[in-house]
Amino acid sequence: MPSDSKTYILTGSFSGIGLAILTHLLTPKHPDTPPPTIHVLDLASAPPTLPATLPTAIIHFYPNTDVTSRAGITAIFDRILAQSPQIDELINSAGICPPPTIGGFENDELFDRVLDVNLRGTWILGTEFLKHVLNKDADAAAGNPGAAGGGGVHVRAAIVNIASRAAFSPPPGMVAYATSKYAVLGLTKAWAKEYTSRGVRLNCVAPGGTRTPLVDSALTEGMIDAYAESAPMGRLAAPEEIASVVGFLLEGGAGFVSGQMVVVDGGYYL
Ligand SMILES: NC(=O)c1ccc[n+]([C@@H]2O[C@H](COP(=O)([O-])OP(=O)(O)OC[C@H]3O[C@@H](n4cnc5c(N)ncnc54)[C@H](O)[C@@H]3O)[C@@H](O)[C@H]2O)c1
Repeated sequence: MPSDSKTYILTGSFSGIGLAILTHLLTPKHPDTPPPTIHVLDLASAPPTLPATLPTAIIHFYPNTDVTSRAGITAIFDRILAQSPQIDELINSAGICPPPTIGGFENDELFDRVLDVNLRGTWILGTEFLKHVLNKDADAAAGNPGAAGGGGVHVRAAIVNIASRAAFSPPPGMVAYATSKYAVLGLTKAWAKEYTSRGVRLNCVAPGGTRTPLVDSALTEGMIDAYAESAPMGRLAAPEEIASVVGFLLEGGAGFVSGQMVVVDGGYYL
C-alpha cells in the first residue's frame, strides 16, 4: 500500500551500512509511493555516488559534519527544518572502530574518541530530533494514550540506533568499542521507556561482522577471514542485509515494535 512521503535524517551514510540504508530507503517499494526526503550527515567530505536509477533529487548532503559537535548539529537541524518542517525518522549509523589493541591497554584518548562518536554522537542527534518531534506535536508531548481515537498511542516518529553485536560479545582488544555500543543499547532502552508512550518508537539494530570500510580498516585480511569463519553463518553480512532490517523497522509493518534490539548476525538467541 502506498503511504505518505517520509523525511529521514541519516548519519554516517556516505559509507558502509549507512550508505546501504540510504540506498534501501531510496529504492521505490511501490509505484505510487512518493519518494522520501533524506538528509544525510557525515564527517567525510565527498558524498557518495548513487546509482543513476535512484531518485536523488530529494537527498540533501551535509558533508564535513561531525556528530560530536552539539553546536554544529543544532545548526544543521536549523537548516534541515527550514527545508523539511516535519522530520519523521532518524537513523544513527555514524561510528568508528579503531583497530584492536591486543594484549595491551587502549589509551584515554582512544577511549574518549570512541565514546564521543559512537555514544555522544547518538545522544546529540537523538536529543535534537526528540526536541523537534515532541515540541511539534503537543498531543504526543503530553502523552495521550487516546490520541488515535482510543486506538492507542499515535506514533509519529521513529529512531533506529546502530549498536553492535560487540556490545554483548566483545571481540578481543576492543574494550572501548564494545563499551560504547553497550551504552548505545542502554541509551535506546532508556529513551524507549521515556518516549514510546509519547509517540516515538525507539529501536536498536546490532549487526554482527559486516564487510564495510570500517572492518577493512580495523582488521587485517587474516583477522577478517577468521572472524567470518567463526560467525554463525560462516561469513560476514553484506551491508544491504543490515539495511533491509533497518528498513523494516522504519518503513511500516513494525509500528508495534519499540524498545527492541534486533541482532543481525545469523546467530540464535531463543
Ligand atoms: N561493519 C561492521 O562489522 C559493524 C558491525 C556492528 C556495528 N557496526 C556499526 O555500524 C555503523 C556503521 O559502520 P560501517 O561498518 O558502515 O562503517 P563505515 O566506516 O563504512 O561508515 C561509517 C560512517 O560514519 C562516518 N563517521 C565517522 N565518524 C563520524 C563523525 N564523528 N561524525 C559524522 N560521521 C562520522 C564515516 O565518515 C563513515 O561514512 C557504525 O556505528 C558501526 O559501529 C558495524
